[in-house]
Amino acid sequence: MSLTGTAADPPHVAADRLLAIIEARFGDGLESARAASASGPRPGAEGLRRAYLDLLKLCLCDLAGTRTLSVARTTQGDVMSRELVGDQLRFRTAGLDWPLQGLTMVGLARLDDLQACVESISRDGVAGDVIEAGSWRGGASILIRATLDALGGDPRTVWVADSFQGFPEAQPNGREGYDLSVDLAGCDFLAVPLDEVKASFARFGLRRGVNFVPGFFEDTLPALSDRRWSIVRLDGDTYDATRLALESLYPGLAVGGYLIVDDYLPLEECRQAVDDFRREHGITEPIEEVDWSCARWRRQREPAANGSTAPTRAAPRGAGGRRAAPVTRAPRVRVPAIEEVALRHEVSELRHRLTAAEAERDWFAASPLRGPRAWMGRRLRRALRSKA
Ligand SMILES: C[S@@+](CC[C@H](N)C(=O)[O-])C[C@H]1O[C@@H](n2cnc3c(N)ncnc32)[C@H](O)[C@@H]1O
Repeated sequence: MSLTGTAADPPHVAADRLLAIIEARFGDGLESARAASASGPRPGAEGLRRAYLDLLKLCLCDLAGTRTLSVARTTQGDVMSRELVGDQLRFRTAGLDWPLQGLTMVGLARLDDLQACVESISRDGVAGDVIEAGSWRGGASILIRATLDALGGDPRTVWVADSFQGFPEAQPNGREGYDLSVDLAGCDFLAVPLDEVKASFARFGLRRGVNFVPGFFEDTLPALSDRRWSIVRLDGDTYDATRLALESLYPGLAVGGYLIVDDYLPLEECRQAVDDFRREHGITEPIEEVDWSCARWRRQREPAANGSTAPTRAAPRGAGGRRAAPVTRAPRVRVPAIEEVALRHEVSELRHRLTAAEAERDWFAASPLRGPRAWMGRRLRRALRSKA
């Protein structure tokens, strides 16, 4: 199958092409996707804790039921949901797609690692709360809260920071070709209201010990720069969001704490923000890859006293010094199923043909002799061709 689409592609072809494009680029991620299964309950507190968290991860990824639905965005601009079947389920387990109903985009291996980081800071007594900057529907933060609660007696608060209205107005990068911030700002699917996220925490019985931080990072994160963190998880994708979160939160990361960057490997501008920050602040702790997308390091030393390697305090920034502004979005609408989009395409094609037929009928009706003349002309041409 060609990987470049045409506007005439039916939705199924366009959606399959999208999976093929992802597979071509992230085949390794798919290959190493872990199975969608849980360990199952074992007697004893530790066995039950592990089973609960395994089950929770399947639920958060929408891998616990009989059908898993994924959202596809085609190059023609259609946004639609489709069922992942058979081997396609690996796209969800690897976190390579957007789930229609799941509460996190993150895949199972990355959630396993997040759980292990939380267990590690708790076991090692690393001081500080945990924050996720860029929570979307909140699934990864739900896992953090659940892991802390299941360990028992850990008093940390989980901070959940997001605009809760999607990406801010794009700050174009000025380069030709694909522009991540323009693409993501235009995506209404990424705008999840705060009430919906709060309701998801409540559904899992995880109301306590959670602080929501609604608003654009530019307006909210600098105010958190005096706090102490044991885990900082960054999932804001763009250069500005990642850079601002690092400037605001890294100074508070305790020694032994984890800095996790969800999109370090595939998103060039996210990686650039991290690399710039590390270079400017003399951070040398080795970066470890978690899966095809995520990377992290564990802080090994306090900032230098002379300030040369100490991260600076955050200042609101953005391309051209503009502050983040919300995108005007249509009210939240249901994502149509691929079959509905296919029917819409068929109906539009039929309408097009009907309009053309009606125009032809009107043309004939305007001059009654045109029809017979045209018929005669066709016959004559056919007769001449057969003689020639
Ligand atoms: C890729 S999603 C996060 C996925 C999520 N961590 C999960 O587990 O599925 C990125 C999120 O970052 C948020 N975001 C991006 N830029 C932001 C900014 N400047 N201020 C606040 N939120 C922002 C978006 O609203 C979106 O919810």
